[in-house]
Amino acid sequence: MRGRICLVTGATDGIGWMTARALARDGARVIVVGRNSGKGERCVAALRAETGNDAVELEIADLAAQAEIRALAGRLAGTLPRLDVLVNNVGAWFHRRVESPDGIEMTWALNHLGYFLLTGLALDLLRAADAGRIVNVASRAHVGPQVDFDDPEGKRRYAGWRAYQQSKLANLLFTYRLAERLGSGGRVTANCLHPGFVASRFGHNNRGLPGLVAMATQRLFAISDEKGAVTSHYLAADEAVAGVSGRYFVKCRAVESSPASRDREAQARLWEMSEEMTGFRYPD
Ligand SMILES: NC(=O)c1ccc[n+]([C@@H]2O[C@H](COP(=O)([O-])OP(=O)(O)OC[C@H]3O[C@@H](n4cnc5c(N)ncnc54)[C@H](OP(=O)(O)O)[C@@H]3O)[C@@H](O)[C@H]2O)c1
Repeated sequence: MRGRICLVTGATDGIGWMTARALARDGARVIVVGRNSGKGERCVAALRAETGNDAVELEIADLAAQAEIRALAGRLAGTLPRLDVLVNNVGAWFHRRVESPDGIEMTWALNHLGYFLLTGLALDLLRAADAGRIVNVASRAHVGPQVDFDDPEGKRRYAGWRAYQQSKLANLLFTYRLAERLGSGGRVTANCLHPGFVASRFGHNNRGLPGLVAMATQRLFAISDEKGAVTSHYLAADEAVAGVSGRYFVKCRAVESSPASRDREAQARLWEMSEEMTGFRYPD
């Protein structure tokens, strides 16, 4: 990975931090994207110290805010010659319905539209790499629901976990459609993954009982952040998956995802809706 340029979102904590650390250990230039500059600077200093790699940098952006995603992409386009790896890792669940700065339900804005918009805006940089890789961190939680195309933002009825499941299903639908658009012989690949049940800070943004339950369950049953980053790192860096695209991975193995995620009509419909909601049309 020496000489490769990698960007990891949601890298100031949890799985993203450990993914950034693994890539920094490989010798890559790693761009950590976080939303909190103090925490981000501490994170970057720790990563440099732990890995001995000084090519770890910080970018600040609220990835639920489309203007900030556009500004981030603008800075990247203005400074990077190419992007070898984009790891869309940022994600959260929201027990209560909240809206993003754009007035979009937060789970949908952050977990799905954020991936969609940043990837589209970074596509030229990824195409400038020899073999650009897009890695979308999804979840096994995608199994179960369908995307509610009539009410994706839960305006009529909101349930936090269902909204999270829907957003993770969207990660798969998006990845499959994207891989198809990029083409099988294309130089840019796109894959997604389930990291495992990980004892990160996931869910801690929810106050009261939901946050406490998340924390207690993680303590009891979950794997470490480091183990949770293994499949993300594998898809970002391993030669074994060079040229592999449009697949869903668990424990570094390509596995079948839910029937709903393979619904081509839903993939196309989601794409169209996402272009509308972001005001961004992917280049052909
Ligand atoms: N943990 C699990 O068991 C599990 C299982 C399946 C899938 N996943 C997926 O794994 C991914 C990473 O989750 P995690 O468990 O590592 O979560 P985490 O520990 O809560 O870390 C989330 C990261 O995202 C950042 N973030 C949150 N909102 C943001 C925003 N609006 N703008 C920019 N950055 C923001 C956080 O920043 P701060 O440091 O400022 O909070 C943090 O760096 C998510 O996509 C999640 O859906 C997790």
